[in-house]
Amino acid sequence: MVEVWSKTLGMNIAVMPGDFVGKEVVAEGMKLLSGVSKRFGFSYQTQHYPHGAEHYLQTNETLPDGVLRELGKADAILFGAVGADPRGNALIPQGLIETDILLKMRFEFDQYINLRPTRLLPGVPSPIRAGAFDMVIVRENTEGLYCQQGGFLYKGTPHEVANQIEVCTRHGVERAVRYAFEYAVQFGRKKVTLVAKTNVLRFAHNLWMRVFEEVKGEYPQIVTEYHHVDACTMYMVNRPASYDVIVTTNMFGDIITDLGAAIQGGMGMAASGNLNPTRKYASMFEPVHGSAPDIAGQGKANPIATFLSVAMMLDFLGQREAGAAIQHAVGEVVKEPKNHTPDLGGSASTAAVTEAMMKQLGVH
Ligand code: NAD
Ligand code: IPM
Ligand code: MN
Repeated sequence: MVEVWSKTLGMNIAVMPGDFVGKEVVAEGMKLLSGVSKRFGFSYQTQHYPHGAEHYLQTNETLPDGVLRELGKADAILFGAVGADPRGNALIPQGLIETDILLKMRFEFDQYINLRPTRLLPGVPSPIRAGAFDMVIVRENTEGLYCQQGGFLYKGTPHEVANQIEVCTRHGVERAVRYAFEYAVQFGRKKVTLVAKTNVLRFAHNLWMRVFEEVKGEYPQIVTEYHHVDACTMYMVNRPASYDVIVTTNMFGDIITDLGAAIQGGMGMAASGNLNPTRKYASMFEPVHGSAPDIAGQGKANPIATFLSVAMMLDFLGQREAGAAIQHAVGEVVKEPKNHTPDLGGSASTAAVTEAMMKQLGVH
């Protein structure tokens, strides 16, 4: 059995804010971490890493191997977001930063689960009218269309061929599916839904379906269902409360968690953990959103997604009380429209939301 959650680990935290809004929200997350550590009486060490698009432009390096090895030995990585401003950075090859930094860590540290809780908190405006929901999306994180397998043939000619292969291994699929069931059991959830596209992707997703059928037999207490991904996007909008735990492929997980973010109030609300459940290498915690160059430098970024990622990190590291306290405080803070940043329709600044959180937690 995989233990899906915390053991008490050390508290060496690697901090990589990244670019634009990534820097802004991680700075707020660090303030919060400092505050809660005093209240809950734990100490931690941090090591700062400047990597990202801006660092690449200055140094021509993405993430050198030595740095990667060092990061892998941390107890956890707190990550902001990386990415250039698409409006002005022709100097950076498309996708280089995201692939060589973020995906590199996910793959090299075998963070095979991307756990993305998706719930609507009371007081947060949602574009949908379907009411409260609370689901957890388990995204397979080290395979699928993200493997960079493929290539070009006759590039640049009228006969050009481009392939991008979806890699699904029995080992990779099974550990993701099993994690979803173990998560359901260990967190008292009732249902696991497989989201895939078995009607078209008749090889790769047939493997997913067969593995799902096999593994579910070991968990008779858990209700199961299967949805094609297109239907899932519809149900996420018109009856999101019917989902409990969803397990899905890397690419579909990417897409449906942005939809999940939108229905839970926006990108500023969605947290994630890239987990290596064996704990051989560091796990990484990050808001789901990107570097948001469109709102950077204006004090507008919503730091809640990062706070919830810090809570998840503390929980994963065994500081459960501190993690729970942050989650509770987020629930209280977002009830008040005066604490809403512009993405939630309010006018609070990033720093004001942190202040409200610190006040709610009774820390400074
Ligand atoms: P994005 O998530 O950066 O932004 C999408 C929208 O959400 C924008 O309107 C933005 O203003 C808003 N938004 C994002 N974070 C917010 C926050 N904290 N508060 C309020 N509003 C917020 O996605 P994008 O625009 O597609 O990508 C921008 C760059 O980030 C690209 O280079 C992309 O590759 C990269 N990216 C990185 C990550 C990551 O590092 N984890 C994730 C997604 C995208
Ligand atoms: C996410 C992001 C990444 C992904 C990108 C930046 C590589 O969109 O974390 O959801 O596609 O996984
Ligand atoms: Mn994404």
